[in-house]
Amino acid sequence: MRKIYLVGFMGCGKSVIGRRLSYFLKLPYYDMDREIVRQQGMTIPEIFEKYGEEYFRKVETDFLRNFRDEACIISTGGGVAVNEENRKIMRKTGLVFYLDATFEDIYKRIKNDKNRPIVQKSSKSELEQLYFQRRKFYRAVGHIRVLTENRSKRQIVEYIGFQV
Ligand code: S3P
Repeated sequence: MRKIYLVGFMGCGKSVIGRRLSYFLKLPYYDMDREIVRQQGMTIPEIFEKYGEEYFRKVETDFLRNFRDEACIISTGGGVAVNEENRKIMRKTGLVFYLDATFEDIYKRIKNDKNRPIVQKSSKSELEQLYFQRRKFYRAVGHIRVLTENRSKRQIVEYIGFQV
């Protein structure tokens, strides 16, 4: 079995669903941001502040290029699908699920998050713009789109779990 990637905007539930899916499918789970934080020895806001977003994007691509060849579940960062090479790697090495949530649901979850530099520097309407700009990339990379609105975590996990 190949990798299972979860993609989508910040706050769409990738990490929570990833962890639960890992129990459901009995596969190891990796949170890409967390792996990067461990590798770099810095938090995401520190990486952005010290080296800038462009550096962070390179680290994301390196991660995807080099991550171990193993059947597992990976929740990706919300910006990963924007890069074409990243999209190619994910589609080639795994099955990609796009977790599609409404902007209002997302905004409620992320608005006070200090650990997300993009949220820190953006207004609500800027975030909403980014959300709409990025949808085409999530759609392009996702093999399967998962509508999360009004669905419980359990329903989402089962929906994904029974398709792999
Ligand atoms: C980002 C999303 C974050 C993290 C970083 C940048 C983005 O991941 O990678 O703060 O550009 O959307 P989550 O989607 O897990 O919040």
